[in-house]
Formats: sequence, structure tokens, C-alpha cells
Amino acid sequence: MTTRIQIEMRPGPSQLLPSSFIDHASTTPLHRQIFQAYRDAIVEGRLHAGDRLHSSRQLAALLGISRIPVVGAYDQLLAEGYCESRVGAGTFVVGRLPVASGAAPSPLAAGEPGAPGGPRDISQGPVARLQPSPPWLVHPGAFALGEIAVDHFPFASWARLVARRSRDTDLAQVRYGGGMGFLPFREAIADYLRRERGVRCGAEQIVVVSGSQQAIDLAARVLIDPGNAVWVEEPGYWGARNAMAAAGARLVPVPVDDEGLDVETGIARAAEARAVYVTPSHQFPLGATMSATRRLRLLEWARRSGAWIIEDDYNSEYRYQSQPITALQGLDRDARVVYVGTLSKVLFPALRLGYLALPPDLVARFLATRIAMDICPPTALQAAFSDFIAAGHFARHLRRTRELYAEKRLAMGGAIREAFGDRLRIQGDRAGMHLTVLYEGIADDRELAQRAADRGLWTLPLSYCHLGTPPHRGLVLGYGGIPIGEIPGAVRRLVEVFDSFAGAANG
Ligand SMILES: Cc1ncc(COP(=O)(O)O)c(C=O)c1O
Repeated sequence: MTTRIQIEMRPGPSQLLPSSFIDHASTTPLHRQIFQAYRDAIVEGRLHAGDRLHSSRQLAALLGISRIPVVGAYDQLLAEGYCESRVGAGTFVVGRLPVASGAAPSPLAAGEPGAPGGPRDISQGPVARLQPSPPWLVHPGAFALGEIAVDHFPFASWARLVARRSRDTDLAQVRYGGGMGFLPFREAIADYLRRERGVRCGAEQIVVVSGSQQAIDLAARVLIDPGNAVWVEEPGYWGARNAMAAAGARLVPVPVDDEGLDVETGIARAAEARAVYVTPSHQFPLGATMSATRRLRLLEWARRSGAWIIEDDYNSEYRYQSQPITALQGLDRDARVVYVGTLSKVLFPALRLGYLALPPDLVARFLATRIAMDICPPTALQAAFSDFIAAGHFARHLRRTRELYAEKRLAMGGAIREAFGDRLRIQGDRAGMHLTVLYEGIADDRELAQRAADRGLWTLPLSYCHLGTPPHRGLVLGYGGIPIGEIPGAVRRLVEVFDSFAGAANG
């Protein structure tokens, strides 16, 4: 909010006169406007050390306001050290401020550190190469990735449980919690992972984090030294790539095919890699399930080379033509797998709750690193989720959403085939809440995605998932959030985008 009071210099003992006016329409309270005006005048050198301010009575009269806000502003100037009060003499600008004793600070010369437009001394290390997310990744709407069926989430039950935990006077809910997370939540997660995902773990191996992204970032910080080679799936999940890159990893793209990560190519490219990031249950974004042969080969390579496997088990709960595929971690006999899971898909992403199931000997290092990052996860939400599981809501919600997403998947497949015929090939629709369509012809998938976004369709260009040159053109389409009835219309709009793009390219 702009403060409109202005300070003007006048000769004489009482040099300071607020010449202009106070903005009575502003939402900034009067005492704050007056304080900010004086503070700025002092910091900018328009008021000097030893200058005397009007008495509060005079200033209130000059401004035509009550004395209360003026006294409040003066108190704040005194409390923050811009002014001092001398008994019987009044309020004066202090002499110790670097600019208060002389003229306004001179502008920085070009080339001086901090001069406008000049270089700023921030890290030029790995984080300097990270880019902000493009709009198609963050915008909600038809086909947006990461959206879930909010309209089918049992918010009433959830709200009741959260409210109950928020009213809980047990101080464990409001104090800092342990860095590992809330024990009943970790027990519930460990139990769920053992039963549903075939993960071999106890609660003492579970560290709660704010979603898989923090889990992967934490794993990168703990496991990787700058310059280490790390295999990443090609195409793959940019979020994991970013976390690895931020830790200074040298990213080694390893292709995926129908059996998932091509382990032999990984070994040929960088046998000495410190770690690999994989999505074995449902490869992101092409959807392959990693074959048993590849899983065992990957574990064998990790065992022999001492590498770490970061298994991102995102979306594994939703599988349409078979039971969920068990986790790679359950096959590991050498404690080389760092397992990553999230509630973003099965509850909702803004909850920011995820978890790691760790090799026992890594727990202490992960814990220390996690505490350095953000101390602990939010206890009340973990407690509410534990209640959500205990009351049977979670199992019920999973059952219902499995059916719902299965219907959406069928509707998507049907609408795409009807609208596009054989111009598109659907891939990766056996699990999760997105599929990938591959097509020929249109080279610039980012431009295509931008044009789709102009029509309210938030698709992800496949090239964004590649480090190198993509061999296929494609778009990744989420269907978790879109109501079933809107799918055919959205797909028809997508056809129009394709047609107009192809028409423009030919014309
Ligand atoms: C491959 C993959 N892993 C993990 C996630 C979820 O991240 P988070 O748990 O941080 O919300 C996503 C989100 O889209 C994803 O695509």
C-alpha cells in the first residue's frame, strides 16, 4: 500500500513539516503511514541526525488528526531506533544511522556490486541452472497433471477429523514434533506399505516429508556429492531431475522402453553412478512397468557398485488391468533402495505429506539433514490422516477413486480414439491419472502445448520430460481432475488445436 504522507524541509528549529496529506482511504493505518513517512525521510537522508520532530500535539494539529496515531508512530520510531527522545526537549533523529548524519546516499556507480542491472552475488552453483516451472505445469484445468478428483474427496469427514485434532489440547499437536514425523502416522504408513505395496519396513524406517519432492531432494542431499553421476529416466520426471541437479549431480539420461529403465545402457553410460532415480511401478511419463528381469538386474548392479536406488512409487495405488505392482524395495536384500511415496494423489497435493522408507543405516543421516531443512512435518495433519485411516475412510476413498479413475481412463481412451482415430497412439494408461499421446508431424510440442493452453487445455509437452532430443512427439494428459462429462468436449478442443497447428504449418 503506497503511503502518501510527504515530508518537507523548512528552515528553523522545527524543520519538519508534513506538507501533504494522509491517505484516509488507505487500508494502512494512520500510525503506520506516519511512521513509514518519517522512517523513509530519515533513511533517504532528507532528515538529518539531530533534527527535531514536531511535538506530537503540533503534528496532530498540522495533519488534522487525533494525537493517538502520531504518538503511536513516534513510539515506533523510538522503538526501532530511528529517533531518540530527550527529556524536556522533544524527539530527535538519532546520530548513529549511516545516512542520518549527512546527505542522501549517493547512487551506486555502474560496476559497483549491487548496482542496478549489475551482477548479484548469489550462488552460481547448481541451483543457478534451475528454471521456474512453465505455465502448463502449474495451471489447473482440463488435462492438468497432478490434479485429482477433488469433487469425490470426503471433505466433510476430513474436515471433522482435522477440526478435532486442531481443537486437541494435547500440546504434542502444537509443539515442534520429532523430525521423523508423528509416530502413529509413521506406524500407519509402514503398515500400509507392508500390506499394499510389499515394502519391507517398520515405522522406525519411515521419515515423513512434505511430498515426494522433498523426499527426492533429501535423498539427493544425503546420497550425492557434487559431480557424481546419477541415472535419470529418459524421458523422466523433471522434479526429480531438478532435485538431483540442485545437489550438483551429473545427470546421465538412461532410456526407457516397454520393460522400464534400460539398465544395460545405464551401465554402459555410467557404471560408476552413485544413484539412480526410477519409477518402476508406472514409469513417468510413458507408463511402462519395470520387468522383473530389469528389477533384479538393477538391484544386482546397485549391490556390486554400491549405488543407491531412489524408487519413486507415485501413483502406484491406481492400476487398472491388474493388482497394484509390488514395490522394487520389497525385492532388495542389500538395503540399497530409498523408497519414496506421497499422499498427493490419494488424498490431495496441497496436503504436502509424503514419506521415505529408508535403509536402517541411513535413517540418522536423513533425519539430521531433514531437521536442517525444516525441523519437522506438521503434526496435526499427520494426526488427522492417522485418524482418517483408522476410521476406514482411506480404504473406502481408495476403493471409490480406483473405480472413478478407471471410468475416467476409459472415457479418455474412448474420446481420444473417436476424435483422433489413428493419428495418435495412447501410451502409459495402465495406471495412474494421466496418459501420454504420441503423434507424428508437429515438431514443436511446446508451441502445441502453448496453443492448447490458450484454449484452456493444460497439457505437458513430452519434450519437457527429456534431457536430450526426444525420439517421439507427444503430450502428457492428466485426467484426474476433469469431470467425466467434460472429457469428450475437451478432447474435441484438443483436436481443433492439432488441426489449426497442422493447418498453419502446411499453409
Ligand atoms: C513422477 C512423480 N513423482 C512424484 C510426484 C508428486 O510429487 P509430490 O508428492 O511432491 O506432490 C509427481 C507429481 O506429479 C510425479 O509426477
